[in-house]
Amino acid sequence: MNKKTSSRKDLLVLTASFIVIAVSALWMFLSGTFSVSLAADTKVAWHMVRSSGIVAYVLLLGSTIWGLIISAQFVKNWSPGPVSMTLHSTISWLALVISLIHALLLLFDDYFTYTLGDLFLPFTGPYRPEAVGLGTLAFWGIVAVTLSFPFRAWMGHRAWKTLHYVSYVAFTLVSLHGLFAGTEGTHIGLRLLLGGGLFGVTLLLGLRVWKAQSRDKSRTHEAIAAG
Ligand code: HEM
Repeated sequence: MNKKTSSRKDLLVLTASFIVIAVSALWMFLSGTFSVSLAADTKVAWHMVRSSGIVAYVLLLGSTIWGLIISAQFVKNWSPGPVSMTLHSTISWLALVISLIHALLLLFDDYFTYTLGDLFLPFTGPYRPEAVGLGTLAFWGIVAVTLSFPFRAWMGHRAWKTLHYVSYVAFTLVSLHGLFAGTEGTHIGLRLLLGGGLFGVTLLLGLRVWKAQSRDKSRTHEAIAAG
């Protein structure tokens, strides 16, 4: 891609972003969002705990799916390795930060009194400790995997990859956490998101394993043929 085409593309992306921001702001203004007083809502913290949980989940789902797509080499022809990895680690960091905000917001909840210990020691909190504990365990798993990104070279590829398996466990725990800890775990939208997320990740994982096995098989055949 030459320089002229690339700066025209940048300009297009920038203009499109401005249009999206302007339309969103106009829509919020017209629908009266700015005239609602946050202080008047006694459940603000609770709403924010829930919404940040959903955003964190979507980010984690995105990162897990993108990681599987990279490792199955589905995009190697059009997305350069370093770009794919940067995107993968950036989404993971975002998921980690939003998960942290999601947990910390519980300290402002009026209904249950949470301490820092309740948030970060699994199965100790005042509300549905088992289901919330799964979220805490998943959080520590996400911390371990995300923090390992900058240490990939130092750890060695094999150890880094082995640690990365924790992300599947964390993803499964978080899906169960959302389903059983959420006050609206029975809501069809939440069920579709969590169920669809689990289904999509399992499907991609199956494809990834199948692709690795067929690659190994063809290598063995090549080795036998070469004598
Ligand atoms: C220290 C770790 C965590 C704690 C203490 C925690 C706590 C909670 C609590 C108390 C709820 C119930 C909120 C309610 O509906 O009343 C909840 C829901 C939820 N959490 Fe977490 N969580 C943690 C980690 C995570 C992580 C890592 C994710 C995702 C990446 C996540 C995603 C969700 C989702 C999707 C819900 C359901 C929201 C809804 O009901 O609409 N949580 N969490």
